[in-house]
This record gives sequence, structure tokens and C-alpha cells, in this order.
Amino acid sequence: MVESVPTVKTVLDLRSQVSAWRNQGHKIALVPTMGALHEGHLSLVDVALSSADRVIVSIFINPTQFAPHEDFDNYPRNYQADAALLQQRGAHLIYTPAAGDMYAENDATRVTVDSLSDSLCGISRPHFFTGVATIVCKLLLQALPDLAVFGEKDYQQLMVIRAMVGDLFIPTQILAGEIVREKDGLAMSSRNAYLSSSQRSAAPLLVQTLQRIAEEIIQKEDIPAVLAAAKGRLAKQGFEVDYIEVRRASTLQPVIDKVNAGEVLRIFGAVLLGTTRLIDNLEVIYPNS
Ligand code: PAF
Repeated sequence: MVESVPTVKTVLDLRSQVSAWRNQGHKIALVPTMGALHEGHLSLVDVALSSADRVIVSIFINPTQFAPHEDFDNYPRNYQADAALLQQRGAHLIYTPAAGDMYAENDATRVTVDSLSDSLCGISRPHFFTGVATIVCKLLLQALPDLAVFGEKDYQQLMVIRAMVGDLFIPTQILAGEIVREKDGLAMSSRNAYLSSSQRSAAPLLVQTLQRIAEEIIQKEDIPAVLAAAKGRLAKQGFEVDYIEVRRASTLQPVIDKVNAGEVLRIFGAVLLGTTRLIDNLEVIYPNS
């Protein structure tokens, strides 16, 4: 019989396992998740396993990153399936803290990363990045891993976390995992499960739109015009566009002035298909000539 992955629920048990591993000289990685695991998450476990000896996966649906009207109550929960996937993938420990422990009754501290949190997803989800930075800060301080892995699908979240870790001198290296896509290009997301079959068939238009924008930028077409046309095409197909934007990849600054040859840009998209919010992004390198 294959051993299942041990699970701890308290910070005391987490720290006692971490310190045992430290005494054995192991390098430790943390992969924070909200469960409902798919290949995208599992690829982050792979990144963690390739850089550390012991990999902890936390599963915690963090209430502070959901607004009251969002999908906290309906967010998919399937611990058994998650644990089986993590066991197959070779994770060493699952951490499933209780909400009451992560946010005690008198909990009063929030971590806000200014500026980076204010644009893109931060506009329609103003609570989101403070919720994420707060919970990731707590998880990192609880586990004190050598490294932690986050997906580039949530590129803005990755930038916010890198900034938070730097600003607060948290001694954890942040690694990024590439976006994992379905065969038709749709970026994997736990929220894809909400899509009806017709929405699911339409959904790859988001990445196709980002790809077309990338091609048009490489042709040096006028970026504002390219973005306006892309939004129009999505709206025509029934997508409610939250944003379609091009930003400088290293700062998330908008591209309003001259772009230099070789500059790395990132195209970001967020849309609603029915009530399901989908986000995606794509790198594009500004051409030489
Ligand atoms: O990307 C996620 O799943 C979540 O935002 C994270 C980083 C686990 C924090 O709750």
C-alpha cells in the first residue's frame, strides 16, 4: 500500500516537522494553494521538488481574499482528491490550518503592498491583494521555508508577493512556475470548473486574444488601437472585459511612453464569462526593428 502524505493542521505541528527536517539538513519548500488542485498546482510542486528536499503544500481557502459577493462559499473543496494528487506527485507534507487559527478572533493585522496592488485585478477586486499578502506572510512566517513557489498565471500576485517578501525581509526565496494550459490553450484554473460547456468552448478566446495582441505588438502596431480592437472582439463574443492591458513585465507600469527594443512586456487579460472570472497573461518581447 502506498503511504499517504502526512497532514498537519496546527502551526505547532508544522514547525515541529520543519525543525526536524532542518536538523537533518534538508532544504524546505512551501507551495501555498487553496486546494482544488490541478496540473497547474502540481507543476508548482514539481518546481519545488526540483529545488528542495522536502515540499510542504498548504491548502487553505483564505477568506480575506474574497469579497462578500465572491465565490468563497462555493469555492471547490476536495481534500481527498487533493491529497491523492499530492501523494502521486511526491509532496512530503500537507498543511491544512483552520480558519480560526489563521485569523484568531482578535486578529487585527493586514499586509498591504502599495502601488503594485492598485492596478489590473486590484481595481475590480480591491480587497484581493491585501488578503493574499496577509495570508502568504502568515504562511511564510509559520513555515519559514527556504523557498516558496507561485504560478505566473497570477502574475500580479507573484509580483506583490515578491515585493512583500523583500520589504519585510522574509528569508524565503520566491520561485515562479510557468502557466500550464489545457490542450486548447485555456490557462488551468480551479475556477474553470464553474464554466458551462458552451462557456468552456468559448473560454480559449481569452488566450487567443492575448496571442493576437502579442503578434500585433511584434508588428509594431499602435498598442492602444490593438487593445481597443481586442476588447471589441471579446465583447462581441459575449465576454465582459474587465481589462486587457500591456504592462512592463518588471514593474507592471503601463506602456504609455516609448518602448525600447528588447524590452520585456506582459499582456494581461481579465474577463467575465457569465459569472466566472478568468485571468491570463502572456510575455512579449518588443522587437528590434
Ligand atoms: O494563488 C492562490 O491560490 C492563492 O491566492 C494563494 C497564493 C494560495 C493565497 O491564498
